[in-house]
Amino acid sequence: MTNSWAVWLRDWDTQPFQLATKTGWDAFVNAPARPRPPDLSLAELRAMNDDERADCDEARHVWNANPPTIRTPQMEHAFELMDQVLASARRDGDRLRGAVVIDAQPGQGKTTIATGYAKRLHRQQYRRYGPRTTDGHQRLPVAYVPLTADVTLKGLNRQILRFYGHPTAQAASTTDLTRAVVDCATSCETKLIIIDEVHFVNLRVRNGLDVSNHFKGLANQIPATFVFVGVGLTEKRFLDEGLVGEERAMAQTSRRTTRCTVPAFSITSDAGMRAWTLMLDRLEAHLHLAAHQPGNLATHARLLHERTQGRIASLTTLIDRACYRTIRDGSEALDADILQQVSVDHAAEQARRSA
Ligand SMILES: Nc1ncnc2c1ncn2[C@@H]1O[C@H](COP(=O)(O)OP(=O)(O)O)[C@@H](O)[C@H]1O
Ligand SMILES: [Mg+2]
Repeated sequence: MTNSWAVWLRDWDTQPFQLATKTGWDAFVNAPARPRPPDLSLAELRAMNDDERADCDEARHVWNANPPTIRTPQMEHAFELMDQVLASARRDGDRLRGAVVIDAQPGQGKTTIATGYAKRLHRQQYRRYGPRTTDGHQRLPVAYVPLTADVTLKGLNRQILRFYGHPTAQAASTTDLTRAVVDCATSCETKLIIIDEVHFVNLRVRNGLDVSNHFKGLANQIPATFVFVGVGLTEKRFLDEGLVGEERAMAQTSRRTTRCTVPAFSITSDAGMRAWTLMLDRLEAHLHLAAHQPGNLATHARLLHERTQGRIASLTTLIDRACYRTIRDGSEALDADILQQVSVDHAAEQARRSA
């Protein structure tokens, strides 16, 4: 017999979004929020038969593994910067838009910030202008383009065209491809182009100037704001003036680039500690466990910070794994033991050992 948990799972099981194509992006932007499954007491859990209990636990694993995006101070700051850059993109006839570089270590929430901002922009543009452009094309306010290892200039163009679902001939020249990119972005009235994982552009092999110039060329021809997201871009002097020495044109690009870093949470100041515990409270409010006491995670704020170095990805992984364990062993609460014992990602573990 099917139970309500199995029904919930049919509708709301894990959904892999493919953000790198317009269809996947659209699914991401318009995905309805999962409804929270009904809360349960330990007694209710114990009264279930085996099948129902298995379905219930599975549903709660899915639920707990998908916390909402939390508006962290880092995210607020990044949104504000992007708002400012986009505000100046509104100048009539100003072809050279500013660009944003989001630069931080892995797992600091860069992609979540960029896609979260873009999602908001997409929805706002649809609400305001509708799904079709003046010329009758599909409106695509945002293009999301994650790069892969050692991408070339041609590959970059192809990746952008892939987002738009534009077929590309194997023999197409860089000029042809660039023209097609400009056509797609212009006719779909794209306002924001996110190039993610920019560190995959090998600035050492591929002449950094080539790449920067290509981006500048695109930015000149497309009336959209570019957001470049990656790791260690400042050290790599990505889009930097210094990279090109005398090149005045590049210096201009650089001046129009706004850098945004996404630091880990730090608990050395009172304000930092408050932001961290607020984050824990919000994550905790989402959790679906039968015996967990609200406010409990915050009492382990220091332990959690030590285990994750304040890195948001490590924190969500740790909490997710801890929830999984406590559901499996039936204790249904997160205590210091569990938070201490579950494994976190490799980087966090290493950092902790060397601390
Ligand atoms: N604002 C947020 N609220 C909740 N969870 C977040 C947030 N930002 C990041 N995360 C968690 O951290 C993980 C990694 O974030 P991501 O944006 O992919 O980091 P990066 O791009 O810097 O490597 C996400 O899958 C999510 O679980
Ligand atoms: Mg990322």
